[in-house]
Amino acid sequence: LDMQQFISEMPKAELHVHLEGTLEPELSFALATKNNIPLEYKTPEQLVAAYDFHDLPSFLKIYYAGMNVLINESDFYQLTWDYLVKAASENIVYAELFFDPQAHTSRGVSFETIITGIHKAQLDAEQKLGINSQLIMCFLRELSAESAMEHLKLAMPYLPWLVGVGLDSNERDNPPTKFAEVFAKARALDLKLTMHCDVNQLNTLNHIEQCLDEIQVDRIDHGVNALQDPVLLEKIKQKKLGLTVCPISNRFVVQSLTSAEIRQMLEHNILVTINSDDPAYFRAYLNENFIELQKEGQFSAQDIVTMVENSFKVAWLKDSEINQYL
Ligand code: ADE
Ligand code: ZN
Repeated sequence: LDMQQFISEMPKAELHVHLEGTLEPELSFALATKNNIPLEYKTPEQLVAAYDFHDLPSFLKIYYAGMNVLINESDFYQLTWDYLVKAASENIVYAELFFDPQAHTSRGVSFETIITGIHKAQLDAEQKLGINSQLIMCFLRELSAESAMEHLKLAMPYLPWLVGVGLDSNERDNPPTKFAEVFAKARALDLKLTMHCDVNQLNTLNHIEQCLDEIQVDRIDHGVNALQDPVLLEKIKQKKLGLTVCPISNRFVVQSLTSAEIRQMLEHNILVTINSDDPAYFRAYLNENFIELQKEGQFSAQDIVTMVENSFKVAWLKDSEINQYL
């Protein structure tokens, strides 16, 4: 069995991908020219050469600088459309997409511009490419809870376009409980809840515990460190929570695809899923994440199938919709 072909051809779901993290250098240059925004580099190749990530802050700096080229509705449309084209080419049939509205409203882009561009691309991709997707609004955790709440209010006219809310960006000193009120309100609005607990962050076990006990999330993004605490691991198992792990993203922080940890999760019957996180920056989309992970961890075809099935099982779809994919 050719594992690379097996992985590439399998219908898959992606549950942890930041739309702004799918901004390819070529689109970045095209939009910079169109919008008259100066770039620090002369060519897309030079830009990629400057991608030097070794921890979360060093990544976030380049990630936020990159998205300054996104100004108009058509820019958000193009970003989303290009990702969905790429995803469909990788046989992704369903995707849940994160976006970071605060990173754009803070630059004077209106919430309506952002979400309308994204939504129109989702509709077109469903019709023309047959790929289904849903949208998750993330809050930037280094900003205030008040700003998060304001953005939840900005989203009120668009609630049917959102499936859930998430929490991302700089985790240090920004625990889940900082956003308890915002997430309680989101839950009351029938939105699903997830939060990043990135690999090897300070107080990560406390953050995972808060996600489980106080916020009562429906999934955890990353969450790899839960393996270090049997109590947390058991809770994740009992609640049947999905963990959206991103192997190549993890490599920038821990120099491994965390294949040993992923294997342990499978052995514990944890609903671990494989995802790309910020594929344009990490230079690897979903198939490449699976292929590299399989090589590092020597996973069997059955292991791959289990991880792909897990992502449909923990997707934020109705049971009847999930059963169409399984
Ligand atoms: N925003 C985009 N990618 C992220 C990541 N990997 N961790 C935290 N915040 C992010
Ligand atoms: Zn992420």
